[in-house]
Formats: sequence, structure tokens, C-alpha cells
Amino acid sequence: MSAPKTFHVKSFGCQMNVYDGERMAELMAADGLTQADAADADLVVLNTCHIRERATEKVYSDIGRLRKHGKTPMIAVAGCVAQAEGPEIFARAKVDVVVGPQAYHNLPALVAKAAEGTPSLDTDMPVLSKFGALPARRKVSPSAFLTVQEGCDKFCTYCVVPYTRGAEVSRPFAAIVDEAKALVDAGAREITLLGQNVNAWDDDGKGLHNLIRTLDHIPGLARIRYTTSHPNDMRQGLIDAHGDVESLMPFLHLPVQSGSTRILKAMNRSHGRDDYLRLLDRVRAVRPDIALSGDFIVGFPGETEEDFADTLSLVDAVGYAQAYSFKYSARPGTPAATMTDEISEAVMDDRLQRLQAALNRDQQAFNAASVGRTCDVLLERPGKLPGQLIGKSPWLQSVHLITDAAIGDLVSVDLMRADPNSLAGVLAMRAAA
Ligand code: SAH
Ligand code: SF4
Ligand code: F3S
Repeated sequence: MSAPKTFHVKSFGCQMNVYDGERMAELMAADGLTQADAADADLVVLNTCHIRERATEKVYSDIGRLRKHGKTPMIAVAGCVAQAEGPEIFARAKVDVVVGPQAYHNLPALVAKAAEGTPSLDTDMPVLSKFGALPARRKVSPSAFLTVQEGCDKFCTYCVVPYTRGAEVSRPFAAIVDEAKALVDAGAREITLLGQNVNAWDDDGKGLHNLIRTLDHIPGLARIRYTTSHPNDMRQGLIDAHGDVESLMPFLHLPVQSGSTRILKAMNRSHGRDDYLRLLDRVRAVRPDIALSGDFIVGFPGETEEDFADTLSLVDAVGYAQAYSFKYSARPGTPAATMTDEISEAVMDDRLQRLQAALNRDQQAFNAASVGRTCDVLLERPGKLPGQLIGKSPWLQSVHLITDAAIGDLVSVDLMRADPNSLAGVLAMRAAA
């Protein structure tokens, strides 16, 4: 196989994978390759997710589809499936490179080796981070991701992340501040700090709130967000930052998974239902308008109708602005995969439907309550209609409006109407801050 000249990176899964995908694209571009569509590229990098069975199976159907095209590209499997399945992938599918999420700085070398005809694999988790070996950030969208923390030490009994991403590691303070400045120079006006447990980020006792307070002073950086947080790492310093750091957006994604303390215990979440609710009270005390988001799993082994009712009542008590909900998926190698008392698919379907109905109802209510407000919107992409742009409100709602402002502008918008998944707005008379 000759050395590839063009490449395409396709990312699945969480925002951290999106960030990794961007960094891999920058790396391949720095190595002299040109970006192309998936159908034309000489090298296709599948940046995979292992979180649920369906996500993993998708990788294999995607490989099959790529192989069916007339042209046979070089295929690299990156991301969490690469880490979890390693060399098994070569046995199951015809691929050229397998590279884990902590080793992708070696992608150019692995591709070169594969071009010489040797399938190559790297799933090491080196102590020295890959970040130092990656090229500088050059051009990014108005809203950019920045990974500050990786890995997880929580070991929730259903979850593969501690195995695919490794132990919790925080990037150094100075490296993050440098990358944030580079992102702003490259066009970012909003930065979302990423981590599997982003609020566990720490550098010598500094804590995430100190990082946020430092980033707040970067000229040109208008908005800071962070995700995903774990309830047990939500320190008072971070809560306080929501009260007085103006660039920190009023949005908190704080997964709880279940409203039943009994199930939370079986999940090894190490917090109960009431701990979570009390924590949200403290956040709302400093920032009453904060938009809350969560993740839920229905049908964890042993979940009774009573446990599920606790989840529904927690949803009622919180009033989420948005949330994600999933059917439990048994993952090989996790403690929950060996638990008996599995919940049938039919029961899971029924519970998911009821939960999603409740979450949708609350999302509609949150959006409807925004109508009549005036807020800043960061314009991120063109809409479907001529002259229409789409951006985000401080509460992470999609807002569309007709405007001659440019992508990357922060404009003041009157919110006029709530549609199912977005809000319609018009440019407000006063200028944005
Ligand atoms: N670190 C984050 C996110 C982890 S993965 C956190 O702790 O919240 C994102 C979401 O996927 C989880 O919050 C959980 O809701 C869901 N998830 C993880 N493992 C799952 C599994 N085995 N089956 C179904 N959903 C799962
Ligand atoms: Fe998975 Fe739990 Fe870690 Fe989140 S906190 S990544 S759900 S083990
Ligand atoms: Fe998926 Fe890995 Fe993210 S399993 S959710 S891509 S950390």
C-alpha cells in the first residue's frame, strides 16, 4: 500500500473524542496530508466510542461500508474501541492501524509503517502526555474544545471509561492557559474545558475554579464552559465561580444516572439522591438562572418500578433544561456485566420512553420560559434559510436569527419563540457586551 496523501477523521462518542479528532486532523495536516471527504480519502481514521454495545458495533459496520467502496482506503481505528479491543480488531476486520486515545501522537509513524505493509498497533498509556507532541492549534471555530483532564478513577460499575481512558490525569495549568490563548488567537470566542471528570482537574491544589478565573482574563475570550462534572468533585470554589465569573456560562451538566439511592449504590456512584439534590440547591443559590443538564441510565440490573419512580420524581424535582438518557448496556469487563437480575428489553424501552417524555416536557418548559428574554448569542454556523445564522444562548440553547452579523460575533438577541429544539430570535436594539 502506498503512503496516503489525503485523510478523513470521523469521530463518534463524547466531546473528548471530537477534540481528539481535531488534534489528529491537525497532526496529519502537519505531516503533509490533505483533508478529504470520507469517500475519497486515502486514509480514514475512525475515532471510536465503546460506551454502549451499539456504539462499538457501529465501528465494524462502518469498516464494512468503507471496504465496499471501489477504492480501498487505509483504515485506522482510534479511540476507545481501539483501547478496549486492541489486537482483536485485526482479527475481526481488515484494518491497517489501531491506536488508543493516549497514543495518537504516534499516528504518523503508525501510518508510515502500515504503508510499508505491516499492520501497526499502539495502545500504550505513556506517563508523558501526548499533548506535548502535538502541533500548535491554528484555526478553530468560534466555540472550541480544550481537554484539561482525562481518565476516570470512579469505576461506576457499568462503565468502560476507566479502562479505555485510564486513570485520572490533569494537564498542567500553564499548558492549558497557553492552549487557550492559542485557541483565541485562532478564532475561538468560547472555550469548553473537557474532562471525563473535568471538575476533578487539579494542579498542585489549584482546582478548576482557579483555572477558570485565570482564563476569564484572556482578552477576546467571551465565554467559558466545562463538561462533564461528577457530583462528588463539585467543590464550593467552583460553585462560587458561577456566582461571580461573568464569562462562566450559566450551564451545568451534572449526570446523576438514577434517582434511586439503592441503584446509585449498586452503580458505585458514591453519592445518594439527596446529596445530589442538595448540591443543586447550593448551585442554584449562587446562580438561580443556571440551566441544568444530566445523564440517565434506565434498566440497570435490579432496577424495580419503585427505583424508576424515584428517577422520575428526581427529574420532577430538578427541572432539567436538557438531558441525555440511555438504556443500560452490559459492557464486557465491567462489574455490572456479571450482575444477575437483568431488566428485559421491553421494560427498558418502556422506562426510557416515560423518562424521555418527562425530560422533553421540562426542556420545552425551560425553552418556553426563555421567550421574552434578551441575551447574548454566539453565532456559530449558517442556518437553512438565506441570511440565517445559528448560535448558542448562555444556557446552551440553539438560537436562530436572520442577521448580517458574522459567524464568531456575539450579538444581543431578543428571544421570540420556542420551537421543539431551538429558539427563534431577532437582533436586539442594544449592542452586545
Ligand atoms: N464521566 C461522565 C460521562 C461518562 S459516559 C460521567 O460520569 O457522567 C456518558 C454517559 O454514558 C454516562 O453519564 C452514562 O449515562 C452513559 N453510560 C455509561 N456507561 C453506560 C452503559 N454501560 N450503558 C448505558 N449507558 C452508559
Ligand atoms: Fe464512567 Fe462513572 Fe467515570 Fe463517569 S464517573 S466516566 S460514568 S466510571
Ligand atoms: Fe465513548 Fe470513550 Fe467518550 S467510550 S463516551 S469516546 S471516553
